[in-house]
Amino acid sequence: MSFRNKANVLVAGGAGYIGSHVVLELVKQGYGVVVLDNLSTGHRELTPGGAFIHGDIGDANLLDAVFMERKIDAVMHFAAKSLVGESVAEPLAYYRNNLACTVSLLEVMVDHRVRHFIFSSSAAVYGEPLSTPIPEDHPRRPVNPYGATKHAVELVLADSQLAYGLTFACLRYFNAAGADESGTIGERHNPESHLIPLVMKVATGERGCIQVFGTDYPTADGTCIRDYVHVSDLAKAHTICLERLLNGGKSMIYNLGSSRGYSVREVIETARRVTGHPIPVVGADRRPGDPAILVADSALIRKELAWKAAYGDLETIIETAWKWHRSDKRSLRAA
Ligand code: WQD
Repeated sequence: MSFRNKANVLVAGGAGYIGSHVVLELVKQGYGVVVLDNLSTGHRELTPGGAFIHGDIGDANLLDAVFMERKIDAVMHFAAKSLVGESVAEPLAYYRNNLACTVSLLEVMVDHRVRHFIFSSSAAVYGEPLSTPIPEDHPRRPVNPYGATKHAVELVLADSQLAYGLTFACLRYFNAAGADESGTIGERHNPESHLIPLVMKVATGERGCIQVFGTDYPTADGTCIRDYVHVSDLAKAHTICLERLLNGGKSMIYNLGSSRGYSVREVIETARRVTGHPIPVVGADRRPGDPAILVADSALIRKELAWKAAYGDLETIIETAWKWHRSDKRSLRAA
């Protein structure tokens, strides 16, 4: 671990799936870490280090106190609602939480002259892809409130850079998957909606089968294709961007994906090999809003930041997910 005097980072949403993996990477690299999380979907026991503050990014008085008491050099923001279906049913809750509360966080940052911001954005800003793989300059036409809130925050950041001298990194995630190699932290959503953890729950016996939402898509095997990127690779991309911003780098927008797509069927077949479980499948109707193919063109971050997916293949990604899910006692007990 470097003993250089590293900066202090406020990680909003650091008790969540991606946030906890970034906290782990920050701690490993010797940064000072302050985790702020309202624990609405995060888990306190999954924050692998740093000081912990139980609170909400929309609580301006709390944030003001945090910035007064602690020397914060940068903010990483993972605290958001992220379920497409839920966003369609409850758009106002998404605009309040994902947009209004982020504006509140940025206002306090500006008041305290904290200028570096790393934002957890999403491929959902692109909506239905016009081309595949998707480059960063693809039109941003989100097709659900979740994607719209992510796009709206990106617009807020661009204007805040001009007005307040903020520098930022917007990282547009494709499908984050897997877990830290240690098997001590991982994905634990309740309810769970993502494919890989749901397949893992079949293998642990928490669920009886996996539903395949649509087998008539225009793909080789008729099921949707997604770009799965390991959560530890995502975490490393965040710390590379942080280092750049702290050293005077300009604002950045990158797709975070492996640029390799896998179908639902390929995920299930790979999970059968990794877990040794038959993983029974039930065909179901298409899920509204699912594009057939979502794969990133991540050439830009590979070129500009020399970032690459260390966990490049699906088998390795699922192996780490399996190690986590079969050991996640709390989730197993809740089954
Ligand atoms: C993957 C594929 C489903 C469950 C999600 C979120 C979004 C974004 C990325 C951050 C799809 C199919 C799923 C099941 C299935 N995160 N599936 N049976 O929808 O691509 O994106 O993660 O920005 O928050 O939308 O991921 O894992 O839900 O689905 O057939 O029981 O698996 O239809 O094609 P998705 P997912």
